[in-house]
Amino acid sequence: MFYTPRLRLRAITRADLPLFVAWMNDPEVHQYITTIWPLSIEDEEEWFTRQRQLPLEQRPLTFEVREGDGWRPIGNMALIHIAWRHRWAELAVAIGEKAYWGQGYGTEALQALVGIAFEILNLQRVQLEVYDFNRRAQRAYEKVGFRLEGRRRRAIYYRGAYHDSLMMAVLREEWTPPPWWREWPYPGAAVQGSPAP
Ligand SMILES: CC(C)(COP(=O)(O)OP(=O)(O)OC[C@H]1O[C@@H](n2cnc3c(N)ncnc32)[C@H](O)[C@@H]1OP(=O)(O)O)[C@@H](O)C(=O)NCCC(=O)NCCS
Repeated sequence: MFYTPRLRLRAITRADLPLFVAWMNDPEVHQYITTIWPLSIEDEEEWFTRQRQLPLEQRPLTFEVREGDGWRPIGNMALIHIAWRHRWAELAVAIGEKAYWGQGYGTEALQALVGIAFEILNLQRVQLEVYDFNRRAQRAYEKVGFRLEGRRRRAIYYRGAYHDSLMMAVLREEWTPPPWWREWPYPGAAVQGSPAP
């Protein structure tokens, strides 16, 4: 389990799958990601089985906000590919609960996963691709230190128009740990004054 001041990052479980299907089938969410075709729970179960074959560090994490005495899942993220020899990873993130967009949760989750990539896994670069019309995601990535490296022109076709796909990356020395990183591994507990788990 990993913690940020407001979030908990934990392993995905089978119980998450109905929620993931609902998120991935929401057009407002999937317009920003590669999977646009409707998914069934059976599709998601197959995906879950494939994820369980991956090395642990490449398995997705569910991130959750504290709600009452418990935790509520709002999104998931992963280092979807790790090139150990070159020491880089590719990152993917989505907050499926739209009510939580634009409140800094994405940035906070990204800070945690980028920090984990650099200071736990000893990687030296984290990269991703983002559609040119996804300004919110680009801004969240910039806040974590990602820089624009390139543009795949007209790589994306969506709703009758072509769009560019932007390549962004952050190098280890370009990442400034957020203040709460010093409280690792229980920044949430320190901030909220309660036991982390
Ligand atoms: C991308 C995502 C993870 C970002 O998380 P988030 O919690 O919504 O983002 P944050 O609140 O941390 O930061 C968003 C920033 O973008 C800004 N922003 C929002 N809409 C914007 C727009 N249309 N243009 C420019 N900036 C915008 C916000 O003001 C904020 O910046 P600020 O803190 O400087 O004000 C989340 O929105 C999400 O999952 N979206 C759907 C799926 C997706 O896009 N995944 C990424 C695919 S590459």
